[in-house]
Formats: sequence, C-alpha cells, structure tokens
Amino acid sequence: MTNRNETTPLPTSDPLAPAVDVPRWWQSGVVYQIYPRSFADGNGDGTGDLQGIRSRLPYLSALGVDAIWVSPWYPSPLNDGGYDVADYRDIDPRFGSLAEAEAFIAEAHELGLRVLVDIVPNHTSSEHVWFQEALASEPGSAARDRYIFREGRGPDGALAPNNWTAVFGGSAWRRVADGEWYLHLFEETQPDLNWENESVRAEFDDIFRFWLARGVDGFRIDVAHGMVKDQSFPDLEHSEGLLENSQVLDHPHWDRDGLHEIIRRWRGILDESGRDVMMVAEAWVHPHRLPLYLRDDEYHQSFNFEFLETQWDLVGARTAIDDAIRAAAEVGSAPTWVLSNHDVMRHATRLGLPSGTAWRAWPLDGPHDVLDTVLGLRRARAASLLLMALPGSMYVYQGEELGLPEVWDLPVDVLDDPVWRMSGHTHKGRDGCRVPIPWTREGSSFGFGANGAWLPQPATFGPLSVESQTGVAGSTLELYRSALHLRRTLFVDDQRFEWVDLATDVLAFRRGSGVVCIVNYGDASVALPAGDVLIASQPGVTTELPAGAAAWVRPNGT
Ligand code: BGC
Repeated sequence: MTNRNETTPLPTSDPLAPAVDVPRWWQSGVVYQIYPRSFADGNGDGTGDLQGIRSRLPYLSALGVDAIWVSPWYPSPLNDGGYDVADYRDIDPRFGSLAEAEAFIAEAHELGLRVLVDIVPNHTSSEHVWFQEALASEPGSAARDRYIFREGRGPDGALAPNNWTAVFGGSAWRRVADGEWYLHLFEETQPDLNWENESVRAEFDDIFRFWLARGVDGFRIDVAHGMVKDQSFPDLEHSEGLLENSQVLDHPHWDRDGLHEIIRRWRGILDESGRDVMMVAEAWVHPHRLPLYLRDDEYHQSFNFEFLETQWDLVGARTAIDDAIRAAAEVGSAPTWVLSNHDVMRHATRLGLPSGTAWRAWPLDGPHDVLDTVLGLRRARAASLLLMALPGSMYVYQGEELGLPEVWDLPVDVLDDPVWRMSGHTHKGRDGCRVPIPWTREGSSFGFGANGAWLPQPATFGPLSVESQTGVAGSTLELYRSALHLRRTLFVDDQRFEWVDLATDVLAFRRGSGVVCIVNYGDASVALPAGDVLIASQPGVTTELPAGAAAWVRPNGT
C-alpha cells in the first residue's frame, strides 16, 4: 500500500442506482469453476477426480472464493467433456463415487465454500437409459417421445427433417436404423430431450430434488436458452455460426417463450427447499431478452457474456458494464461477471490478440505471430482486477488465477473436443482452455497427477504452477489472493457504483466504500488520483498507472 499526497481532482458523473441493497451470497460472491477432468488427479489415471478436488479445497478456501461450481461429474462417455450425461444421479467412476461427492460437499461447507452443480437439461447422452430405450422402441412409442424423433423429408425420408445445424457443425439430425431421425443440437451422441413431454419435466424435478437433498447450494443450468422448440420445426432462414448461439428473435429452437414456465417450475422446487439456494442460467440470448429470465420467480442470475465478448476496448467495456448493471437493476438482481470458462479461449491469450481477431478460429487460422503473450497477461490481470471491483458476483475459471494461457497449439492428434471433427477440421475447438492445471514447478504433469495428464501441458506451465507462484510478490496468483480478500472488505457490503471521469483512455468508477478502480486503456502512463494504492495489477504502481494496468485507490479524504 502506498500513501501519496498529490491532489489530482476526482470528478464524478452519472451515479447509477445500486442494484441490490443487501446482497445475498450469490449476488456478491466469487464462484470458482472446476472442470473436473482437468483440475487435480488424485488416483493417477491422468484424469482429474473428486479425490483431487477434495485435496485442493484448502487451496480454494485460501484463494478467497465463496463457492465452487463443478462442471458435470456424472457418468458419461465424455464425448462432450461430460456435458453428455448418461445418469444424472450418480458420479462417473473416473471422477469418484456418489459417496465421495457427498463428502466433498460436506468438506467444502466446513470451509465455508458453497457448491453448485451443473444440470444439463437440453439433451442427455445417447448412453442414457432413456435413449437406449427409445432406440429399442418403435417409432411413435412413449420411449421415443422423450426425445425429438421425426420422419425425414424426400420420397424415402432420406433427407433430414429440416435444415437445423448443430452448434458444433454439421446437420442437427441423425438417422436411426428404422429410418426416423433424431435431433441433436450439439454432438450426435447428445440427443435433445422433448420438453413437451411431461415425464421429461417430472424427471428433472426429481433430479433437482436429488441434489438438493445432498446439500448443494445451487445449480448452473446448461444451455438454458434451449429445451423448447417450435413444434412446427420450420427451416432456419439464416445460417448459424459455429459455436455461436445466434441471438435472433423468434428463433425456432433458442430462447422460446415456452421456456419460462419450465424455469418457474424449477424455481418453485428450489424455493420449496427453504434453503438459500440459487440457479444461474447459461443463456446466450439477446440482451433485451435476458431480464425475462431473471424475474422474481425465475433464475436468480445469469451469466453475462457481453464483457467477455469485448476485447481490450474502453468503450466496449464501459458499454458492457452499463448494460449489465442496468439489466440486473431492472429486475432487482445483481450483475455477474466472467472472463473465462471451459468453452472460450483463456483471456490471458484472448487479450493478447489484435482487436477484431476472430479468436474462435484463430488457433487454426492464425496468423500466429500477432499474439503478444506479455501484453495478453498484463491486460488479463488488469481486466480481472476491474471485474473484481464491480458490483455483483464473479465467476473465476480454474487456472485463470495463475494467468494460464490458452494452449492454442495443441497437436491436432490429441484434440478431444467434438468441435474439431464436427466442424470438418475448420475449428480446433475448446481443448486449449481445458489443459490440466499445473500445481508444481516440475514432476509428472506438473503435480496434476502421478501419471501424466489426459491433455499435454506445455513446458511454460511449470513456472506458472501454484508452487512457483505461491508467496511470490507480484505473481498472478498472489494478485488474485490479495484482490479477492480485499474485495470482501471493500466491495461486497455496499453495492453502490458510479462512474468517475478521470482522463481520456481511462475507465474509472467509485464504489460505495469510496474506493476507486482505475483502468488504463491507453498507450501511456496516467497520473493516479491522490490517495492510497490498495492494489495494482502491475508491481510498483504508486503515482502513475502504466498502460494496460488497473489499480484500486482509496482517494485522500475518504
Ligand atoms: C457447455 C458446453 C457444452 C454444451 C452442450 C454448453 O454451453 O458449457 O461445454 O458443450 O453446453 O452441453
């Protein structure tokens, strides 16, 4: 902390109303996302597991997060990394057992950490007993009606029922032996469920109750804008971008009005539990539609991907922040912030690419020499500090606290994400952000497990490991630890927020505690207002904030 005496004036502009007076835990907390395959491998089989996660709970507690969201851990062929669920009420043996999941929940609670599980309602795995029954049953049977089976077009039904495409590429329909087609908006082993069918609805009611009974504190709902389809199954009039869930209005399979009665039903189950539980939607919908999902009797919150989608750009950042705060305030909710997850390029790499780079295609298409890794990490640290200072809650993806880069140059023969195959080898997919976490400087898989890792880690992971960064002043890990702890005292109890106009190329806002967060989007250093620099994204910040850096300052007199 640096005490300074300069008197740079600190003007203010347009206060925004606080979204939430007294935040509940999920309205202000920090949720850490664990992708179980890649977090920590306790049994040495190369795949992360519950034993590994449990052994790292003290690390997460010391990091200063409030909750853990575990990506799917259910029995699964792992054709889509576990988002292809074969049984919603058990744990995949590669990850552990139900008893271990229960022990994990209890241990997390003892450390004051809440637990969110992932629910995947749009589709099951083709190995789910329901789909196996559907395949073994006649067209028109009750078993088939749990999924979306249709006859094909053309004289012998050899053409798919319509032109819908899968998010990962190719047609969204696959034909089975007796000639019917089934819908899969994702991989072909992820058949879409028929949410018009009451037994599907009842099944998910029960799945929610099952996990609530095991003590979970919340749910992340996968593809929350899916499920309900236009029952006339019309052709799409536009083409859909790969991995991009289009946000056009009145889309035949995304963001349909009929979703809301399902959401209200789930919300009723959560409310009935009488516990302080929540559900967060992964809903890629038009920003104007998002508040509909956040009404009092629907989701508690939704991921906000607008900030993630903006590159290093002051106007884009400010717009994304305003939009999110206003949208949340409209429904009395709190905004959420996220920079990385298991589906997108890690932000330490994304922010090192020139503005305008199509980062989903870049790992394959290049040009690769435009990547500036030093700049990317600098901006990533600044962006993280910025998000941690905002009102609302934040989602942190495993490894971002280490400043891990995207491993964009994984050899194609190790790629596991179905996107590589289904895109016709035009997109490498999402494996680059799923490379196992380095815990130690050296050793087998840098401490991930005793016998290697399911995806190869680059040599650069050693110096970025938890061991290498722990206790090292200025490391990204220590920056996250300090910032997350400071955040609790500075930014949680009082959710007020107002923009401050400081200088061109500078984004600045004041929080209820009086602390100002300042981010320098320009190319030159800028003078900081007089006061104490509580934390900065770069070492040695006292009176000047370098380009691409952020700082939290308590101005003199506050
Ligand atoms: C998950 C992805 C998954 C897809 C299909 C998503 O939005 O986050 O990882 O591939 O849903 O379940």
